[in-house]
Amino acid sequence: MLIVSPSLLSANCSKLGAEIEAVAQAGADWLHLDVMDGTFAPNITFGPPVIACLPKPAGLQFDAHLMVQNPERIIDSFLGLGTLDWLTVHAESTTHLQRLLQLIRDAGCHPGVSLNPSTPPEMIEWVLDDVDLVLVMTVNPGFSGQKFLPSVAPKIERIKNWIVKRGLKTLIEVDGGVSPKNARSLMDAGMDACVAGSAVYGQKDYQAAIKALKDV
Ligand code: DX5
Ligand code: ZN
Repeated sequence: MLIVSPSLLSANCSKLGAEIEAVAQAGADWLHLDVMDGTFAPNITFGPPVIACLPKPAGLQFDAHLMVQNPERIIDSFLGLGTLDWLTVHAESTTHLQRLLQLIRDAGCHPGVSLNPSTPPEMIEWVLDDVDLVLVMTVNPGFSGQKFLPSVAPKIERIKNWIVKRGLKTLIEVDGGVSPKNARSLMDAGMDACVAGSAVYGQKDYQAAIKALKDV
């Protein structure tokens, strides 16, 4: 069954708590937290002080996606929150990627690594054993509501093949422009989890929107 992770970036920010409770009620598995620093990504969102205030409904896992340059500078403030289940950093954002992933695991979070659309999958080939999640970006980081880039889809298949060959349990999450229209082919390529900004928070009926993704 597809794991659905609505992105809080697309929620109504004047009532974040209610928006989180609403997607949990509607059947969301994870909550995607897009952290941007204005340097790695051309937008600034929120950080640890805001995340610390968010309600965490039972059963909803927090899936943080750091689009931050040199995240090792601030990783401790995220690890210290104690509410993050998945913590993903970009392969392009740090020099000592393996060290950072190990640090995340040692702190009790599931480490994840993300790739921008233009980044070759080979960039994570040697850290695949160090992560529980690979987050494949199918838009360029920065904004929700961007157009899905179909040219990135073969990357999912390539990474899935490595995971299967090595007998790993690593999940693949796809982020950017995922909708019920493309979810079936992405699952066929190896997608286990999808980020859904517009596809959930952009819809009127969250429950129907999540069901539409899970039913493809
Ligand atoms: C983009 C973010 C995404 C975004 C997804 O930089 O990483 O998580 O919120 O939004 P949609 O699903 O609308 O493309
Ligand atoms: Zn994201």
